[in-house]
Amino acid sequence: MSRHRVLVTRRIPEAGLRLLHEAAEVDVWDGELPPPRDELLRRVAGVHGLLALLTDRVDDELLDAAGPGLKVVSNFAVGYDNIDVAACARRGIPVGNTPGVLTEATADLAMTLLLAVARRITESNTFVRDDRWVTWGPLLLLGKDVSGATLGIVGFGRIGREVARRARGFGMRVLYTGRGRAPEAVESELGATWVDFDSLLAQSDFVSVHVSLSAETRHLIDAAALAKMRPGSVLINTARGPVVDQAALTDSLRSGHLWGAGLDVTDPEPMRADDPLVNMPNCLIVPHVASATERTRDKMAEKAARNLLAGLRGDPLPDPVPAPAA
Ligand code: DGY
Repeated sequence: MSRHRVLVTRRIPEAGLRLLHEAAEVDVWDGELPPPRDELLRRVAGVHGLLALLTDRVDDELLDAAGPGLKVVSNFAVGYDNIDVAACARRGIPVGNTPGVLTEATADLAMTLLLAVARRITESNTFVRDDRWVTWGPLLLLGKDVSGATLGIVGFGRIGREVARRARGFGMRVLYTGRGRAPEAVESELGATWVDFDSLLAQSDFVSVHVSLSAETRHLIDAAALAKMRPGSVLINTARGPVVDQAALTDSLRSGHLWGAGLDVTDPEPMRADDPLVNMPNCLIVPHVASATERTRDKMAEKAARNLLAGLRGDPLPDPVPAPAA
């Protein structure tokens, strides 16, 4: 019997590729950059499984190019805003993602950004590298206290909750907001208090965003929301770039209303080095690396492969993305 054909749109860790090679004919796009669109449309023709990355747009055009044999789309990410899930559902194609395995690494990076911005780590490091360190100074590179500060978490899913756990360890007061209230046991375990969005913005010294990107959350943090944040506060975004209106963020940082920002995700990605935001000393940007640890990426690869293989067999995916209501 001929084996299923699978397209993997970038080299992923061996932990996942090995599983795929055991069960299918695997075509891996080996480029460092994502496959150009025309190449992707060409290579996807006739495949039975597509293992995609967040840099690939999976839409009607791509599904048409794949043809009727496509049985499953598996995203190498927990976020799936790159996939038109409704279009997949219309064709009966299940979509999988990788929840759970990148929670800790992402929460770690959110705290890393928070601490680094609060304590001006990039500026301090540049200061030493530039050989400007001449003495200890009582007013040199003063930052913000983390201990005793209030952290507002927007989106209290897996990652938001792990950020809360870490923040408590740093002696922070934790507020959260989201679609609904977490169970009381979770609130009390994490010492987190629910407030509405506006109260969270008004009361927090640090706001960390953990919502997925949807029509509802695009520009959730816009100029109006930024204006409601406390003067001198800090914004952290490890969710998706378009959740924040970046032009409004640039203005807010420039005006000094916001004291700083730490961004793992931007809009667009990648950011070019001549963007004003990249050059602001109070804005720390890293290139979408929240899940970029060896163990986490191995687990993501395994999960993505298992979703794909289940779809090829016609079994329910271990981690299915819910199809939108028709
Ligand atoms: C995700 O999985 O959605 C992250 O943004 C990349 O790891």
